[in-house]
Amino acid sequence: MEQTKLERVDEIIDCYGADKALSLAVLQEIQTEYNYLPRELLERVAERLGLPEGEVYRMATFYHSFSTKPRGDFCIRVCMGTACHVNGGPRVLEAFERELGIKAGESTPDGAYSLEATACLGACAQAPYVTINEEPHAKVTTDRVSDVVATCNCALPEAE
Ligand code: FES
Repeated sequence: MEQTKLERVDEIIDCYGADKALSLAVLQEIQTEYNYLPRELLERVAERLGLPEGEVYRMATFYHSFSTKPRGDFCIRVCMGTACHVNGGPRVLEAFERELGIKAGESTPDGAYSLEATACLGACAQAPYVTINEEPHAKVTTDRVSDVVATCNCALPEAE
């Protein structure tokens, strides 16, 4: 792990007064900064906040807004909750896998996209439901998957 990343994490921890009660906020800042939570940084958080490493790792894996693996610039989450499952969620997930050439839980080699299958995202009436970096996509069908992925390209900043 680069020293600069550890130093940056120390700065974040110091901003929160190295208060273990604010550990979730610390993890959120690190997630925002690096787009995932590397194990070495979780170890640093545990050490600095005086928490067991296992507890910090449990927090990092419990909340779906956190990831312990590098995520792509566009994080596509396909809901696999009950309502989405019975309305075709698995077929939609397969369509994203084919479109991106990766499996759920993976990122594209260029780091542009990651694909996740998740538990209920709280929009069951919109099943099958997909989010891309928290942007909602309701009632996604397999034949809309290419268009949904194309919306990501629209969100890219124009090359200079
Ligand atoms: S089951 Fe998919 S949003 Fe609830």
